[in-house]
Amino acid sequence: MTDALRFVDIAKEHLDDVIRVRSRSFGPLAAANREEWIKDAQEFIDDGRYVGVAAGDEVVAAARIWAFEQWWGGRKVPMAGIASVVVSPEYRGRGVGSKLMRGVLARSIEKGLPITALYPATTVIYRHLGYEFGGGRYRFTFPAADLRSLGGKDVSIRRAGAADAGRLLELVAQSNSAALVNGPLVWAESKVAEWLGDEDNFGYLADDGFVVYNWDDGDLCVDEIIAGSEATARALWATVGSGSSIATNVKAYVVPNDPVHLLVDREADKQAQIQRWMLRMLDAPAAISGRGFTPGASLEVDLELEDAEVAGNNGRWHLSVAKGSGALTASTGSGDALRLGARGLAALYAGTPLASLRKAGLASGGSTGADGAIDSAFAGGTSYMLDFF
Ligand SMILES: CC(C)(COP(=O)(O)OP(=O)(O)OC[C@H]1O[C@@H](n2cnc3c(N)ncnc32)[C@H](O)[C@@H]1OP(=O)(O)O)[C@@H](O)C(=O)NCCC(=O)NCCS
Repeated sequence: MTDALRFVDIAKEHLDDVIRVRSRSFGPLAAANREEWIKDAQEFIDDGRYVGVAAGDEVVAAARIWAFEQWWGGRKVPMAGIASVVVSPEYRGRGVGSKLMRGVLARSIEKGLPITALYPATTVIYRHLGYEFGGGRYRFTFPAADLRSLGGKDVSIRRAGAADAGRLLELVAQSNSAALVNGPLVWAESKVAEWLGDEDNFGYLADDGFVVYNWDDGDLCVDEIIAGSEATARALWATVGSGSSIATNVKAYVVPNDPVHLLVDREADKQAQIQRWMLRMLDAPAAISGRGFTPGASLEVDLELEDAEVAGNNGRWHLSVAKGSGALTASTGSGDALRLGARGLAALYAGTPLASLRKAGLASGGSTGADGAIDSAFAGGTSYMLDFF
């Protein structure tokens, strides 16, 4: 049944097939949303980032590749965000998803994207292909009344709309590069403008920060908040909290070390939500040179990389880190190098300590005496994303 399957580019005429597979995978696509779905799909088709597997003329599996950038060590690294991975039920469990994902990896490399990330509905298939947990999307819940009283009344803020998209991106870039942030996505300015232009989202802008929030099931929910100073943080959170006469709670997509946890008197609800995402290197030298590293860290170490799916990552490499930048170059060394597979490399890149990787069987060899220095180079704030894709 799976012999004659081939990897294909999704074209407009395949979209009925894709919708059929998608409905069987994620639930029905409401008729009211069909047009919007097709418009979104076309953007991926136009740029060769909607791929699939066909049996004869029929598409039986498909996936989208977002061309994002992702902050690592305060620098933006181009990233292939994999989404809408679906296989028709009668073809599942026969290697079709793996064939599709191998094509996805190859296409992402052709597109010059050195890393890839995804939110897994099931981890097994992605682990087999070299993905490993890279971070989480955290959502905390605060009593709205606690935020209302945070102050910041001297800070002037105004409503933000689609025309402020560029300014928001600037504020995010300033904040994320200064804080050497790990993980968040960079969306195209047009998408940020769409988000701000949506009348169900409420954006407010200060000189050095902004907040965007909306209603969520009777609560308020903060999609993103950036504040360059304590006063602005207080003012923006208090603006959201001003809804406390109607909304009991404010949910917020913020990282565990966000300053809000240090500003509110009471801790966030213990039922925080975390959605984990997985990461993979597609071009290890470009992934290393594209990111930032801990500024004071200095490293000269050999790595032996073994990657069953991406041949270009294989072999012995020399990793140098100095002055906040890194380089991975082919090595001729012969001593005992730190050995990592694709999963170990991804997890290390995301700041997982080598002691954990060794205990999970994802790293071996080298000198454990050097582990601390390697960990420090890759370490940083908790890696996170604010958005699901
Ligand atoms: C998840 C999905 C894409 C996998 O496709 P598939 O063609 O069945 O995958 P493969 O046959 O290539 O399986 C690859 C590996 O993943 C495992 N796997 C696949 N689906 C799994 C599941 N739901 N739970 C646990 N393991 C799973 C397989 O057992 C296999 O591992 P093995 O070689 O050790 O046995 C497919 O089941 C699907 O479309 N599901 C519904 C939509 C969905 O969840 N999409 C994923 C969004 S991230």
